Amino acid sequence: MTVRYFTTPIYYVNDVPHIGHAYTSLATDTLTRWYRLCGDEVRFQTGTDEHGLKIEQAARKTGISPKEHADRYSAPFRKLWDFLDVVPDKFIRTTDADHEAVVCDIWRRMEAQGDIYLGKYEGWYSVGDEAYFTEDELVDGKSPSGHEVSWVVEPSYFFRMSKYGDRLLEFLNTHPDFVRPASRQNEIVSFVKQGLQDISISRTTFSWGIPVPDADGHVIYVWVDALTNYISGLGGPGAELYNKFWPHVTHLIGKDIIRFHAVYWPCILMSAGLPLPEHIFAHGWWRHDGEKMSKTKGNVVDPWKIAGKYGPDVFRYFVLREVSFGADGDFSEKGLCGRINGDLANGYGNLFNRTLGMLARYRNGVVPNPGEDENAAELKQRIAEVQRELSQAMDELAFHKALAAIWSVIAVADKYVDSSAPWTLAKNEKTDATARQKLDAVLYNLCETLRILGVWTLAFLPRKAKALLDRLNVPEDLRNVASTLSFGAFKAGTTVQTEGEALFPRVEMPAETEATPAAPAAPAPAAKKAEKKAKKAEPEPPPAEIDFSDFAKLDLRVAKIIAAERHPDADRILKLTVDAGDPEPRTICSGIAEAYAPEDVVGRSVILVANLAPRKIRGIMSYGMLLCGGEGKTTTLATVPADLKPGTRVS
Ligand code: MSP
Repeated sequence: MTVRYFTTPIYYVNDVPHIGHAYTSLATDTLTRWYRLCGDEVRFQTGTDEHGLKIEQAARKTGISPKEHADRYSAPFRKLWDFLDVVPDKFIRTTDADHEAVVCDIWRRMEAQGDIYLGKYEGWYSVGDEAYFTEDELVDGKSPSGHEVSWVVEPSYFFRMSKYGDRLLEFLNTHPDFVRPASRQNEIVSFVKQGLQDISISRTTFSWGIPVPDADGHVIYVWVDALTNYISGLGGPGAELYNKFWPHVTHLIGKDIIRFHAVYWPCILMSAGLPLPEHIFAHGWWRHDGEKMSKTKGNVVDPWKIAGKYGPDVFRYFVLREVSFGADGDFSEKGLCGRINGDLANGYGNLFNRTLGMLARYRNGVVPNPGEDENAAELKQRIAEVQRELSQAMDELAFHKALAAIWSVIAVADKYVDSSAPWTLAKNEKTDATARQKLDAVLYNLCETLRILGVWTLAFLPRKAKALLDRLNVPEDLRNVASTLSFGAFKAGTTVQTEGEALFPRVEMPAETEATPAAPAAPAPAAKKAEKKAKKAEPEPPPAEIDFSDFAKLDLRVAKIIAAERHPDADRILKLTVDAGDPEPRTICSGIAEAYAPEDVVGRSVILVANLAPRKIRGIMSYGMLLCGGEGKTTTLATVPADLKPGTRVS
């Protein structure tokens, strides 16, 4: 049995999860599901990266401990994975005591090799990137990603990485598919050829980290700490899980952190006397409607919102189908809806509906005997070819190719229905035994094709494919890749549930939207009157009942209003600056100006809906909403006692 281990990066606890995080986790979960369907023993690990200056600073600002901050920001990742059907075997946190112990063990191993020495570090440090930069690397005086940098001099332990350059180069030469896609391997080879520098691996300027063993005042630099998660999550060198799964690992990462994974990590492992990972795959980045995503622009794609609206399966399908895994992608709601209506509703869903409809009409929902049908040769041949294409595509992490191959079977199956004309066979079968037998064969072949499609898509559309197989009453032992290797495993005589919900309902294409949502236009007075009248005549129904998971999506927090002014373009709105426990204060546009003057609200502790999608209100971006009661002049802010610190969760 093949043993495989897949990992995502561990995500920083300084941000709520966005499409970039969801992308790696969905891809990793899909691989895990796929290889399990192939019968392999697979382990999947993800988690959160919780140490470092940035976390310490953010926590200090909120008045809570770094650990409390980490708890607060780690939880949404777990919740999102639950919601997206991402099911890791291990969710690691770098604040876990057993992780910390393995990090210290690795440090000692490196030290024992004479690879760690005390020196002085000076350089341009960016808190935002948690990294130092050389003068040459700065862009307009900032880090390459646009963060502020400052000159820092501190005593620091160094890792003699320079010692491992030649060994790493040799390893890269003998393992041409260590880093994928191939272009990334070339990039790393060129980098290593220039010669490796020693790297600073401890800090004294902050304390939120794992203490360096036997060295007062030093904490271990975040990357040594973070990268070690991949083996500490297995219990560390010598542990049972480690012995089983290491080094049969593929690290899935984004392209921005490739150097840490393909250079630092192998050198650390060589120094610690441990084997190197089998593969590292760097995927591309997502943009949104053609633009780079950023919090300030307010255009970050929120997986909760999109998957909540369209379903977790179709979100997964879209991100994996839309672009090749190593390339950058552009997310647009329109593009997503196009795929839902095209590939899913018109393609997969329609084949399913057609087949079940005919099975109900012509055979009372019972799968008939296979029989012979030479017309099915093309379909069977395509399925056999796709079987091979699919395995190869998955081995290359080419999800888009795998899906394109699966969908080619749907196209051939559609053609098969049209050319077989089952409706004509049904007309003739009473008098013509050949027509009867042929109709049996057509219906059987279609049901078997759907079963095979269902199995193949279990990793890509976990809920929908399961629903499809359930409707077909496919037994457990026919829900694996081995059962699809030869056509014809589906049992004749199986009763299928021909009635049921549409698998992929069509969706309405979103209306043209601006890149950032504009403030809703105020209704004209006449329209307002009519609206009020209509409201009186027909009382609004109470909002629909929600369950706890819906409520749990709300990030309700205590926020303190630190500044207020009137909105320059809207009489009823105050522009507020609030401290909500984030690293930076937020701007909130709140419709309370008829009830409060700006000076009335400064200093108040209020309740903020912190994860409401940012929106532009008459030209000013607003990042959340304050809870209030009443309306117009009687509006009252929901306040909380001042001893509740900004950022405190309200639930
Ligand atoms: N904590 C480090 C990783 C340590 S792994 C030992 C880290 N965390 S992160 O939260 O900032 O980023 C996690 C991942 O999200 C990275 O792989 C990064 O490439 C990915 N993405 C961040 N923005 C992205 C997009 N817009 N699109 C796709 N992925 C992106 O780095």
